[in-house]
Amino acid sequence: MTFADFKDAAGAMRDSVVQWRRHLHEHPELSFHESETAQFVEDTLVSFGGLEITRPTPTSVLARLVTGRPGPVLAMRADMDALPITEATGLLFASTAKGVMHACGHDGHTATMLGAVQQLVGMREQLVGEIRFIFQHAEEVYPGGAEEMVQRGVMDGVTRVIGAHLWAQLDVGTVGLVEGATMAAPDTFWITVRGKGGHGGIPQQTVDPVLVGAHVVTNLQSIVSRAVDPLDPAVVSVTQFHAGTTHNVIPETAELNGTVRTFDPELRTRIPQLMERIIRGVTEAHGATYAFTYERGYRPVINDVTVTREMQEIVEAACGPNVAVPMRPTMTGEDFSAFQQKAPGNFFFIGIRNEARGIVHPHHHPRFDIDESALETGVKIFVQAARHFNGVR
Ligand code: NI
Repeated sequence: MTFADFKDAAGAMRDSVVQWRRHLHEHPELSFHESETAQFVEDTLVSFGGLEITRPTPTSVLARLVTGRPGPVLAMRADMDALPITEATGLLFASTAKGVMHACGHDGHTATMLGAVQQLVGMREQLVGEIRFIFQHAEEVYPGGAEEMVQRGVMDGVTRVIGAHLWAQLDVGTVGLVEGATMAAPDTFWITVRGKGGHGGIPQQTVDPVLVGAHVVTNLQSIVSRAVDPLDPAVVSVTQFHAGTTHNVIPETAELNGTVRTFDPELRTRIPQLMERIIRGVTEAHGATYAFTYERGYRPVINDVTVTREMQEIVEAACGPNVAVPMRPTMTGEDFSAFQQKAPGNFFFIGIRNEARGIVHPHHHPRFDIDESALETGVKIFVQAARHFNGVR
């Protein structure tokens, strides 16, 4: 292969990955409903040849590249679901599904992984062991698709697992690596404050759940500021407060809802206990009662130290020096953690931000977009990871 041929091959790869991404972007599907997406992925994988392809669940796809030579089993994961958001990007390939949008970049994850599979199928003779490609459904909605796929055995025998997220906070051309605690455990809570409704002008006959609820919100903020070690990351956010119907009626109840984010398992257990103590105390002080429901979400993403250091080498080999940058952990959540229960792994972040081109909107925003050159970066890293961990020595 001459250099010119190589450049043509790289160009063709880039073109197909961008086309796949745009096709997926135009046809987004919500979590657990990724039927056409999964079919598109399966058909594309079949066209590559040489893979063992199965459907662990109705809308997920597993492809195995079995070399027939003994060696480790490397799993790579891409998630495929979209969000209930009305797209406002004005892109030529904007969503054609009403109220549904790939606003988190999972279209790019899927396309990137397809690009990596295509390359690696052609490199079979240079590889040992097995490369397993996990096209996961339903990352956005708890209990998530990852846990379901793990239960169906997709991680059986896997020695290492890697995955990536296109990342709006990172400039295109950079790749963020985090060692250890990487993404938080996202838990959800619901609080009902029950007072006694009545006339807005006769408050003495009521127990006002709006006032009591406001005290609850304020007092919950003392958990992170006063009951948690300042060096331990934690978030308690009340994100919804619904009460009342009109200006002259004190309502019977107030409904509060929000999220708690932690890394530390002990803290994750302690925060709901502290919350309930405050809710109980505040409501009782005002003669109100409460109901409190706390639901645990995904486990935190904890990156294996050894695999992360190897990823640093991999990114350098694939993209050159100065591309890998150390990144701070994020308090967002990810069900990639389910795969990490079965094998040591790394979840890394590929920069997509390009201010000059106006690509600045955060994930889950109606104008979220990606700099598509990040897709090629992703393909190169996944291919290099396979060569690094599963290359013929
Ligand atoms: Ni996402």
